[in-house]
Amino acid sequence: MKTNICLACDAPVSSFMSFGPQPLANGFLTPDQFDREYFFEMKVASCAKCGMFQLLEQPDREQMFNQNYAFFSGTSRGMAMHFEQLANDVMQHVLKGTNDPLAVEIGCNDGIMLKHFAKAGVRHLGVEPSANVAAVAKSNGVNVVSRFFDEACAEDIIRQYGQADVFLAANVMCHIPYMHSIIKGIQKLLKPEGVVIFEDPYLGDVLEFTSYDQVYDEHVFLFSVTSVNNLFAKYGMEVYDAQPQETHGGSMRYFICRRGRRPMTKAVLAQMDKEKAWNILSPATYERFRRNCEKSRDDLKSILENLRKKGKRVIGYAATSKSTTIINYCGLTTDHIEFISDTTPIKQGKFSPGKHIPVKAYEEFQKKYPDYALLFAYNHSKEIMAKEKDFMGRGGQWIMYVPQVKIQ
Ligand code: SAH
Ligand code: TYD
Repeated sequence: MKTNICLACDAPVSSFMSFGPQPLANGFLTPDQFDREYFFEMKVASCAKCGMFQLLEQPDREQMFNQNYAFFSGTSRGMAMHFEQLANDVMQHVLKGTNDPLAVEIGCNDGIMLKHFAKAGVRHLGVEPSANVAAVAKSNGVNVVSRFFDEACAEDIIRQYGQADVFLAANVMCHIPYMHSIIKGIQKLLKPEGVVIFEDPYLGDVLEFTSYDQVYDEHVFLFSVTSVNNLFAKYGMEVYDAQPQETHGGSMRYFICRRGRRPMTKAVLAQMDKEKAWNILSPATYERFRRNCEKSRDDLKSILENLRKKGKRVIGYAATSKSTTIINYCGLTTDHIEFISDTTPIKQGKFSPGKHIPVKAYEEFQKKYPDYALLFAYNHSKEIMAKEKDFMGRGGQWIMYVPQVKIQ
């Protein structure tokens, strides 16, 4: 996909910055694949009309989401707890009193959330195109169909299961450029009183913390309440609540219904006011963000160059999707990072996208602690700091880059 019109409202858009040539963020690869590696130019724009922050180019969906998808939701204990809580909230509050309700979740991955519906005997369906993670969901007792959700998929679901009471999506709506087909599908699939609950990394946090690593191939959008509300308004729907989340370094959970079906909360109105005060539609806001990204890149590069000159050992902690943007935008190589430690078996023994830094099992980190660990999974800081007391006790230090570049 390449565009110069807004994917949400069709207004002309132009890029305010480029993160340069970027590979697939989850495209961990083997040496025989190095010379065929795919790159695209990661240019970003923000629509001055509707506020949608977006990529102007994105790889085809089958290139990113397939039977070799490398992201397994269940690798973080914190996320497992987060989604158990959300599942319980939906069952206890949203579906309470509904006769034989149906919950549909798109991008259910390994079933991290839907398995709780399965356990409780609540009718549910997961839609998950990446066959390997969908197979794990199945083995967790989740009812899942392995395909991309869109309008045609919604029609098939209705034929087989009837309409849904709740439509759920976590960290997937922001992956999908064909949003109009998704929302048309939602409109058909949802019962008149049904609700959409979805969450994604929040543009407000990305701008505030300069967490530009949230921009990568899969994240075609970074949403705000303003842009989401503008998008759904075209289809007679509205955001009636918005709840900030700590996950992924700052996310927003959106609650959406058909217009006028539910009272708007004070929180959603307050959040829209905040976004207005941040000038979320103004080019000056994104010009400032571009300068902040460049400074963050230069600061990180200079710390790593200094440590290299001093002969210090630095490893990367967690081969996250986000790390692909950092590594390629900052031009980091094995000169700076000896290897990246990661707990996901499918990533281990492979090389990082673009710069080909080896990815090794977590045990390699434990075997011989480095002097410094560059924390690519800062969004799981609490969980990781609790786990790595020994590393720190032996003098190991962290290199952080969100919200500021620093050693701690
Ligand atoms: N919800 C999980 C997984 C997020 S990763 C979590 O928050 O941890 C995004 C997932 O969305 C991937 O598993 C990908 O295969 C899936 N996906 C991408 N496009 C999709 C589409 N059109 N319909 C359904 N799922 C999709
Ligand atoms: P996450 O921030 O969810 O990744 P993404 O940027 O792709 O959304 O982090 C998940 C990755 O981090 C996954 O590859 C496993 C790895 N990880 C570790 O290696 N150790 C850990 O303690 C944690 C929490 C994650």
